[in-house]
Amino acid sequence: MLKHRSENLLTEKNMEILEAKTFLDDVINGLSLTQKQLSPKYFYDEFGAEIFERICTTPEYYPTRTETMILKNNVAEIAQRIGPNAALIEYGSGALEKVKIILDALENPNALVPLDISKEQLNMAAKKIKTEFPHLNVLPLTGDFTKLVKLPKELLNAEKKVAFFPGSTIGNFEKEGAIDFLKSVRATVGENGLMLIGVDLQKDRDTILKAYNDEAGVTAEFNKNILMRINRELDGNFNLNDFKHIATYNEEHHRVEMHLRSLTVQTVCISGVNFHFDLHETIHTENCYKYTHESFSRLVEAAGFLAADTWTDSEGLFTVVLLTSKFRP
Ligand code: AVI
Repeated sequence: MLKHRSENLLTEKNMEILEAKTFLDDVINGLSLTQKQLSPKYFYDEFGAEIFERICTTPEYYPTRTETMILKNNVAEIAQRIGPNAALIEYGSGALEKVKIILDALENPNALVPLDISKEQLNMAAKKIKTEFPHLNVLPLTGDFTKLVKLPKELLNAEKKVAFFPGSTIGNFEKEGAIDFLKSVRATVGENGLMLIGVDLQKDRDTILKAYNDEAGVTAEFNKNILMRINRELDGNFNLNDFKHIATYNEEHHRVEMHLRSLTVQTVCISGVNFHFDLHETIHTENCYKYTHESFSRLVEAAGFLAADTWTDSEGLFTVVLLTSKFRP
């Protein structure tokens, strides 16, 4: 028994070492490119996850409140389309606020698998939802949801698996990555499964840009947290005051681009490796693609899904789409 336990602990420690090594490799590779870049998945440590929750409450960040309103206004119809005994798998579950709207309306939900990269936030949110839905089987999974998900064995016999992916996080993937991710979700939920997904729509540039340049500077703090994280976890010496948060809209690609712009000529050292920055040189940290109903339908069809139902707010800011398999039995 003791041996078994220490083996488990060892595995967890090894995992941590492996994750730190991957993070360091990714950072060194990304900052060695001509256009320096860092993957947005590294935004979400414990602090980043908290800052993101604050972004969602800024007056400028319309996606969260609009999506919540769409879900609330249409939940009866959504629950009816999903049907009884469904097992929900929430990808990048965060604070689990939106899934409660669905759970409240579902007939006899079978289980909830919240899946998130931020362990601390995941465990806290899972505990909280368990107190609010005491009869629900809550099975949290920590990990990178872009990889193929190994579901807990309790779900293997679930009648219907429904992936829930709100927040327009699909917009943070490049097109090929989005298709691969949707394909992996389809493999996870199976032919009979569904996916309920939130998507930010193309709209006037001003509304979009304000959402990523909030006056209180929360998005700037979120963007710079990636540098803080490198300082903390990878022995980096970024001076946060020497970088500026930038968010621009790329009309050609229909995406917001977030960058961190160097305000001086400087050298930054990370785990003993030096990186030179020219004045105004940037690190590209995130893309947030905006879709039309048509461009999103094309995307999901390339992954073997069909956009079967769509719910949109009256201003056409955001949409929630129910995907079914294109090849249903
Ligand atoms: C998580 N994701 C959908 C957010 C977005 O809008 O692309 C991340 C974010 N980045 C800056 N603000 C919000």
